[in-house]
Amino acid sequence: MRNSFAALALFAACVAASCGSSAKQNAAAITGGDPDRGAHHIARYGCGSCHAIPGISGAHGLVGPPLAGIGRRLYVGGSLPNEPANLEHWVRDPHSVNEKTVMPNLGVTARDATDIAAYLYSLK
Ligand code: HEC
Repeated sequence: MRNSFAALALFAACVAASCGSSAKQNAAAITGGDPDRGAHHIARYGCGSCHAIPGISGAHGLVGPPLAGIGRRLYVGGSLPNEPANLEHWVRDPHSVNEKTVMPNLGVTARDATDIAAYLYSLK
């Protein structure tokens, strides 16, 4: 009896705190991408040389804004409403949004941009 109460309490606490991988699951559902692959691509494209990105080793760059909590911002790149297609568009071709931005076009593929968006939206 005691144990089942403890298990129930733990379950309730987990739901309240969105325990485990649910932030990742939500981000995957919103974008159709894979957050774990996205983390790999972010490291591979070197985004961390300009951005501080939680969970990516060596990603402490100060050139661009920190990308923690990007899912809560209203706009990306200063002008696009923050939604998956726009985030992916920005990551793939920032110069088509703002020709003066310092962020380079890194040749990110559509598939990789979807996974990158999934990772970024999983960040708190
Ligand atoms: C050479 C430095 C540089 C690199 C490399 C770089 N960025 Fe950026 N990034 C910037 C700058 C600067 C901005 C601010 C853009 C602006 O508003 O002009 C920015 C903006 C962004 C934004 C929008 C942030 C916001 O709050 O609007 C996202 C998302 C982003 N970068 C993701 C990435 C990803 C993903 C990569 C790797 C594929 C990457 N960046 C690589 C410099 C860089």
